[in-house]
Amino acid sequence: GLKKKEVHVLCLGLDNSGKTTIINKLKPSNAQTQDIVPTIGFSIEKFKTSSLSFTVFDMSGQGRYRNLWEHYYKEGQAIIFVIDSSDKLRMVVAKEELDTLLTHPDIKHRRIPILFFANKMDLRDAVSSVKVSQLLSLENIKDKPWHICASDALKGEGLQEGVDWLQDQIQ
Ligand code: GTP
Ligand code: MG
Repeated sequence: GLKKKEVHVLCLGLDNSGKTTIINKLKPSNAQTQDIVPTIGFSIEKFKTSSLSFTVFDMSGQGRYRNLWEHYYKEGQAIIFVIDSSDKLRMVVAKEELDTLLTHPDIKHRRIPILFFANKMDLRDAVSSVKVSQLLSLENIKDKPWHICASDALKGEGLQEGVDWLQDQIQ
């Protein structure tokens, strides 16, 4: 068949937000793993959509590993940024990490698409995706295409909508 265009994606966000769970759900079911553990450093994963072949750098969100993120910024052609919508206490930390990302020299002047997942929508404490975008001041991102989707990575809800948007940005 036709060879799909290859795209490098960075998957970023705080630890426990659900990055690895989301990426795992985007793989074909026979390639999915059952037990997901906190990522150490980072892990390289692959999944395909109708027209693209994604290589994902699934980064650890733990504080001690966050300094690794910037080493992959140059290679990234798109960003998936995951937020735990139920973690109100650390929403401000997520915002700080996002702001640091957006002002980094390897990101700042690039029109790189950013897909946000307001994840863990199934939890009772979760705030809406509109609220997440307010708390992260996403309306201030004017020089990059971005989109936010509510998701439940355990059930796989909301993921396809997000990936469809990302695919459209890259065509
Ligand atoms: P690090 O690798 O440490 O940066 O974490 P991560 O962002 O990769 O999170 P991970 O995918 O390991 O998920 C953390 C925990 O959240 C796991 O117990 C998941 O099962 C759970 N989780 C992920 N997504 C959801 C969701 O949408 N809803 C609920 N209720 N739990 C979720
Ligand atoms: Mg992980």
